[in-house]
Amino acid sequence: MKEYVVGITGASGSIYGLRTIEALLEAGAGVRLILTETGEKVVAWETGREAGDWISDYKKRFTGQLVQEDNRDLFSASASGSHLTDGMVIAPCSMSKLAHIATGITPDLITRAADVSLKQRRPLVVMPRETPLSQIHLKNMLTLAECGAFIVPAMPAFYQKPQSLEDMADFMVSRVLDCLGVENHRYARWKEEV
Ligand SMILES: Cc1cc2nc3c(=O)[nH]c(=O)nc-3n(C[C@H](O)[C@H](O)[C@H](O)COP(=O)(O)O)c2cc1C
Repeated sequence: MKEYVVGITGASGSIYGLRTIEALLEAGAGVRLILTETGEKVVAWETGREAGDWISDYKKRFTGQLVQEDNRDLFSASASGSHLTDGMVIAPCSMSKLAHIATGITPDLITRAADVSLKQRRPLVVMPRETPLSQIHLKNMLTLAECGAFIVPAMPAFYQKPQSLEDMADFMVSRVLDCLGVENHRYARWKEEV
């Protein structure tokens, strides 16, 4: 079974992280979830549902595929390069975590796991969420892109005429899974019949 680390930070757009987890689980992959403290609060604020409820729902639907790791626990599996994964996604990614990763500062598990992905040359997909962007934000994104990370800003398209928030999120989720090479049909591709 393929395995991906998914990080959710305290940037706006927790729906992107949640639906990325769901899509990876639906694709039959294993997911190691790392939630930051603020990420957990923003999930509850934006979705009206506690992160723990989302997680137990996924665990029930996809038995044995989802493991949550404690962001404060640097003894977790994803802290080590010797634990094999197929890549990592951080969606949404705060400017704070982006800065940490771009400068190699890894005080918690989510930044350490991203650092591991880069050093092991595994796919790292970062979905930054902020607007407008400062020069610091842009430079940090460039640094990560130069290190091989995929920078996939939360910029849903409108040419597919999305009907719901979920449609808009799934456009981005589909782009993320494409970067990881995971087959997905969450969203009709341009000129593709649904
Ligand atoms: C509701 C809410 C929305 C936020 N949206 C963003 C955002 O879109 N981008 C960002 O960089 N920070 C955002 N922040 C600020 C981050 O949560 C803050 O920088 C925090 O320290 C990030 O912590 P983390 O990176 O450990 O998750 C938001 C905070 C709140 C409470």
